[in-house]
Amino acid sequence: MVPLLTEKNILLVGSSSGIGFSVARFLADMGNTVLGIARDEAKLNEAMASLPLGGHAAYSFDVAQIDCIEQLIDIILDKHAHIDGMVYCVGNGDIARLRDLSSQRLHAVMMTNFYAFIEFVRVVACRKAKKQPLRIVAVSSMASISPEKYFTAYAASKAAMDAAVKCLALELVQKNTTINVIRPGVVATQRLKWLCDCTGDIDEKIKASGYQPLGCIPPDDVAYMVGFLLSGKAAYITGAALPFNGGASC
Ligand SMILES: NC(=O)c1ccc[n+]([C@@H]2O[C@H](COP(=O)([O-])OP(=O)(O)OC[C@H]3O[C@@H](n4cnc5c(N)ncnc54)[C@H](OP(=O)(O)O)[C@@H]3O)[C@@H](O)[C@H]2O)c1
Repeated sequence: MVPLLTEKNILLVGSSSGIGFSVARFLADMGNTVLGIARDEAKLNEAMASLPLGGHAAYSFDVAQIDCIEQLIDIILDKHAHIDGMVYCVGNGDIARLRDLSSQRLHAVMMTNFYAFIEFVRVVACRKAKKQPLRIVAVSSMASISPEKYFTAYAASKAAMDAAVKCLALELVQKNTTINVIRPGVVATQRLKWLCDCTGDIDEKIKASGYQPLGCIPPDDVAYMVGFLLSGKAAYITGAALPFNGGASC
């Protein structure tokens, strides 16, 4: 069978754990080169070194250094010549009561989840050759359309991402570029571990409460959807927000 996607250079922002690492494995297994970004250098190097079929690269970087994103992309392009796809898997999941939601906290969430995302899209899209296809996938969240107490900053940042992607899709369609978001519900990544430590088995709880009747979503399944959106088979999908809802009603 012909692989969905192969021999592409994919910039993977947030690639050392969780959904991002599942995407990295999925892409590497199909013979693509992963250009991974995360803050913790040792963890990122270990993650990239564990991928099959070599050629992958690790760039330790904090996306909050927004003014340095352009320089980072130029360094990456010097080494890898072109970027065929980008996946934005970074997320600041800060949850806070209104009384604790300072403008600094709000800004930090918007910086990681929204401003830096737009800057990556801007630079990667501007650097590509006109006829070269580019596929961009961002991991949003069901939180953007499904209100939860204390998720004000996180939900707003993801809703901003969703809205921006719809506008960007219209602009970038002339430039042979597709851009889409995936909206997962609760995914079984390390991020949930602290929640399980505080509240017990989340999988059982979200099933029993009816919040997400199918339970926690495996990150490898989300990776498959990301891989599809990066592939030529998704060339006619842009500006979409695809739900990955575990049976939730939205
Ligand atoms: N897990 C869920 O239930 C769920 C549900 C819906 C949506 N999502 C979204 O899915 C995405 C991934 O979530 P996840 O659960 O897979 O998270 P995760 O396991 O915490 O992984 C996040 C990745 O991003 C990197 N990262 C975080 N902050 C960064 C920064 N400022 N600069 C550069 N890299 C950074 C992390 O490495 P370093 O820490 O070393 O930087 C790591 O590689 C997020 O956007 C999240 O909002 C998750």
